[in-house]
Amino acid sequence: MSRTGKETVEYFHEKVFTCKDPEKMKSIYDEWNFGYSKDLKSASYKGPVHTAHMVHRFVNDKNCTICDVGAGTGLVAEELRKLGFTGRMDAIDPSTGMAKEAIEKKLYNKFYHEYLIPGQQCSVETESYDNVTCCGSIIPGHVRYQCIAELLRICKPGGHVVVTLRKDYLDMEEFVGMDQFLKNLEKNGTTSMTVVHEFPQYYLHYPALVFVLKKKASFKQRM
Ligand SMILES: C[S@@+](CC[C@H](N)C(=O)[O-])C[C@H]1O[C@@H](n2cnc3c(N)ncnc32)[C@H](O)[C@@H]1O
Repeated sequence: MSRTGKETVEYFHEKVFTCKDPEKMKSIYDEWNFGYSKDLKSASYKGPVHTAHMVHRFVNDKNCTICDVGAGTGLVAEELRKLGFTGRMDAIDPSTGMAKEAIEKKLYNKFYHEYLIPGQQCSVETESYDNVTCCGSIIPGHVRYQCIAELLRICKPGGHVVVTLRKDYLDMEEFVGMDQFLKNLEKNGTTSMTVVHEFPQYYLHYPALVFVLKKKASFKQRM
């Protein structure tokens, strides 16, 4: 049974954000699978539209390769395809249940069913994608903001990492230090630019922030 928009956001607050166990989190999403896209639509979820819009604004090559982190059911890939991105798109997401819809719609070429953890490398090769997206997954209890370093590792020099989240998350304890973390990436020469754009709607009445980080063209991997 589909949820209303309000019920969907309540479900996030009560069941999803409070989940501290990665295995439990995976099973929540596995069970949600085909219902997820419908529920998020009821909540007028605009994160994927904003993410794709910002990729479109900053990336000229429509045939570029993209890795979508925390890809879920593939809402970001769908929006990117609508804007004319034709290149290879791969996905990282631990939930095989969520991937079922994306597989049915043939949105991604390859799935890495992996759980990103700060300070740990996933199995994706260094600098293997032209651009990287991560929408709605750097949220409480999910992908930690420190994993942006991993998103930059798999992105090619000169490429973009586009991260979309609900603006008010930045006031939560889990997000303390994110601003300094992003500044340090510029200071230590990993990124050459960070643009933050605000959109009035993430879902329901909540505003969204989209961070666009450009990996320095001359970046030398230090990990
Ligand atoms: C709210 S959904 C967002 C899905 C999609 N990007 C969207 O905008 O609809 C969050 C996704 O992040 C995934 N996820 C949670 N923790 C993760 C982690 N540590 N590493 C990678 N993916 C994670 C979940 O399995 C889930 O599919």
